[in-house]
Amino acid sequence: MLKRTHNCGQLRLEDAGKKVALAGWVHSYRDHGNLVFIDLRDREGLTQIVFDPETQPEMHKLAKTARCEWVIAAEGIVQPRSEGMENPKLETGQIEVAIERMEILNTSKTPPFEIDTADKTGEELRLENRYIDLRRPRMQQKLRTRHQVTMVVRDYFDKLGFWEIETPMLAKSTPEGARDFLVPSRLSQSCFYALPQSPQLFKQILMVSGVDKYFQIVRCFRDEDPRADRQAEFTQIDVEMSFVDVDDVIEVHQNMVARIWKRILDIDVPLPMRRMSYKEAMADYGTDRPDLRFDMKLKDVSDLARQTSFNVFTSTIEKGGIVKGLCAPGGDKYSRSDIEKTLTAFVGDYGARGLAWAKVKAEDGVLSLLGGTAKFFGADLQRQLFDRFGAKDGDLLLFVADNEEAANKALAPLRCKLARDLNLYDKGRFEFVWVVDFPLFEWNENEKRYDSLHHPFTSPVEEDLEKLETDPANICSQAYDIVVNGSEIGGGSIRIHNPKVQQKVFDLLNISREQARRRFGFFLKALEYGAPPHGGIAFGLDRMVMLLTGTENIRDVIAFPKTQRGQCLLTDAPSEVDQKQLDELNLRMQRHSHVIEQQIEEQKQ
Ligand code: AMO
Ligand code: AMP
Repeated sequence: MLKRTHNCGQLRLEDAGKKVALAGWVHSYRDHGNLVFIDLRDREGLTQIVFDPETQPEMHKLAKTARCEWVIAAEGIVQPRSEGMENPKLETGQIEVAIERMEILNTSKTPPFEIDTADKTGEELRLENRYIDLRRPRMQQKLRTRHQVTMVVRDYFDKLGFWEIETPMLAKSTPEGARDFLVPSRLSQSCFYALPQSPQLFKQILMVSGVDKYFQIVRCFRDEDPRADRQAEFTQIDVEMSFVDVDDVIEVHQNMVARIWKRILDIDVPLPMRRMSYKEAMADYGTDRPDLRFDMKLKDVSDLARQTSFNVFTSTIEKGGIVKGLCAPGGDKYSRSDIEKTLTAFVGDYGARGLAWAKVKAEDGVLSLLGGTAKFFGADLQRQLFDRFGAKDGDLLLFVADNEEAANKALAPLRCKLARDLNLYDKGRFEFVWVVDFPLFEWNENEKRYDSLHHPFTSPVEEDLEKLETDPANICSQAYDIVVNGSEIGGGSIRIHNPKVQQKVFDLLNISREQARRRFGFFLKALEYGAPPHGGIAFGLDRMVMLLTGTENIRDVIAFPKTQRGQCLLTDAPSEVDQKQLDELNLRMQRHSHVIEQQIEEQKQ
């Protein structure tokens, strides 16, 4: 086989006259009668190779048989392209290789879609034929970036004395709040492993083991419905450290993030990153994942709304609810029907019962409200509204009246949608923020108990320890999330290292002693043998690479992802298994899949 001397993105004008060999895929071919041109592609780029019937009649004939995506190797002399034929868009666009010898290494069926136009191809077809999809420069760029991120991370932690340690994939379930994927055990029949939702307890046990500084780039599994930024199988950069406080963990990891952004995008992330309390994030942005590329803060206007004659507002406030809203700069461009149909339906999807609005207009330099709920606000109330929002001519005020949680749930995504629609930010910008001072618990009204806001191993701040007995709802935790442009890319906490405190937290979560012993007995026991104070964090690697490569689809940054229905279209997983495999596991299907499908169909009708 002809061995390549260069890759297809490498040759430049300085190489003219050299004898070189290239190997790759036929990206395109043009037969100009006397000359055949092939764009040869590998992951590094494209190089034009040319076949001349005058000098190489045999090779010219062979080249005429080549088709798209055939695999060839070819040897020849680098020459400058003839005048006017240069391609400035291509790094190798100044040269071509005049081929003296070519080997066809493999043929290819006609691909189901063209590499160049794959963006317009349905994603299903691309996933079914992922090997072709991944040949695209855009996808190769994502694979490369992902690799580079992991290399930066490994190098960074290694230099700081962290050890990468693998933890089991066949594990006991740890509660990160999602459903487990279960794996039946053949040797212990009727018992199951759980695929780890995260290595949370193992990494804490590594701290008890004296490892001191741990990290791992690790696959995690959560049986929840995939979303644009969520896969059932995803990757974390998982870290744990001993003898640290919140500031230490934040310091190490904002430096890591800055290192990554510098290496991949050559962007200098300003350090230290800003911090924002959970309370502030919820009040101003309605979410603990604020997108800070634009302002448009939410404002509680209950005090003003209460004085209006608008029944929707006054009755909501009487029932203990609030009226919260935002002021969209330039929102004037939305027509009444845009607002009452499109925007109202948008917040409706997030549970809002309506969307009240009014436009801000200036006449002779004086602002007043127009349309929608304008008539319910007297001149004085209007002035106070404008002050509160810093409103100006051409803005649009939007309000949701509901309980605080519901209002935030609707307004937070509305704020992001408006900013996108109204072009309020530069897409290439990154705004990082650490969200801190989370409450330890939130009250679960349905189940009449507390839930952890992060996970049950998160430590309260020391001052609040006694509130475990007296006032659990108002305990501040030592948890932190890192948010970039509204995407939570990481989160962690200082952990509880005192077994008594840990037991107390389980009690508040209504996890019975018996349950706790069965599920985390091994862990509570470990805490009793000299657990050091410790804390850590996990970053979503997939989400980070999404931001770095500018995609909103998590499947783009995973070589072999699953669809919304959790399927791998390439391999057709999940699939049925042989009876023999089930027998070995002592498992019996209660209903066969075709019966289940039939039932689903019946339910639909
Ligand atoms: P958490 O559950 O917040 O924390 O996960 C950490 C980060 O992982 C990413 N992530 C996901 N990415 C893609 N698909 C998913 N389904 C998915 N779920 C989470 C997010 C998130 O910020 N053990 C703790 C960490 C710790 O306390 O140290 C944990 O797993 O970017
Ligand atoms: P209605 O009284 O239901 O006809 O609504 C009058 C206007 O108030 C409409 O524009 C609704 O979208 C809006 N609206 C209704 N309920 C709410 C609510 N909970 N919050 C904000 N606006 C609302």
